[in-house]
Amino acid sequence: MVLIRSVVAAFIASACALSGGAPAHVGAGACKPCHKVQFESWSASAHAKLKPVLDCEACHGPGSEYKAVRIMKDPAAAKKAGLLMPDKAQCATCHGKKKVSPMTDAMFAKVHAHKKKG
Ligand code: HEC
Ligand code: HEC
Ligand code: HEC
Repeated sequence: MVLIRSVVAAFIASACALSGGAPAHVGAGACKPCHKVQFESWSASAHAKLKPVLDCEACHGPGSEYKAVRIMKDPAAAKKAGLLMPDKAQCATCHGKKKVSPMTDAMFAKVHAHKKKG
C-alpha cells in the first residue's frame, strides 16, 4: 500500500538523518504524562484507530532520543534528536487520496487538541 509505504519511508528517513544511531519508537503512552491534552484528543481520533496506527511518533518522529524533558524543553536539541513537526504535504500522503478527506487549513488545525499558550 502506497500510503503505508510513504509513512514508513518518512520514518526511516528521519531515523537515518541522525548520526548517532536510529531513534526508537517508544509508543504514545510515553508522551501521555507530559502531553495529556494532545494524548486524549488523539486517542479519540480516527488516526488512533487506523491500522497501522498513526500515532504521535508516526507524525512527530520516533521519540527515544527526544522524550527526555531537558531535550524537549530545547526546540533545537529536540529537532536534532529527531522531533518533527509535520506539514500539510505530509498529511497529503493520505488526505485527498482514496476516500480520505482533503487537507485544508481548518483540518490541519484540528489534527489534535492543542494546549493553550499562556
Ligand atoms: C518529560 C515530559 C515530556 C515527554 C515524556 C514528552 N514531551 Fe514533548 N514536550 C515537553 C516539553 C516540556 C515541551 C516544550 C513545550 C511545552 O511546554 O509544551 C515539549 C514539546 C513538544 C512538541 C512541540 C515542539 C515544538 O517545536 O513546538 C512536540 C511535537 C512534542 N513535545 C512531542 C512529544 C512526543 C511525540 C512525545 C512522546 C514520544 C513527547 N513529546 C514526550 C515534554 C515532554
Ligand atoms: C496514514 C494516513 C494519514 C495521514 C498521514 C494523516 N491522516 Fe488524517 N486521517 C486519516 C484517515 C483515514 C482519517 C479518517 C477518514 C477521514 O477523515 O477522511 C483521518 C482523519 C483526520 C481528521 C479528522 C476529521 C474529522 O472529521 O474528525 C483530521 C482533523 C486529520 N485527519 C488531520 C490530519 C493532519 C493535519 C495530518 C497531517 C499532519 C494527517 N491527518 C495525516 C489518515 C491520515
Ligand atoms: C497526524 C499527525 C499527528 C499526530 C498523530 C500527532 N500530532 Fe502532534 N502535531 C501535529 C501537527 C500538525 C501539529 C501542529 C504543527 C503546527 O502547528 O505547525 C502538532 C503539534 C503538537 C504539539 C505542539 C503543541 C501543540 O499542541 O500545538 C505537541 C506537544 C504535540 N503535537 C504532541 C503530540 C502527541 C503527544 C501526540 C500523540 C498523543 C501527537 N502529537 C500526535 C501532528 C500530529
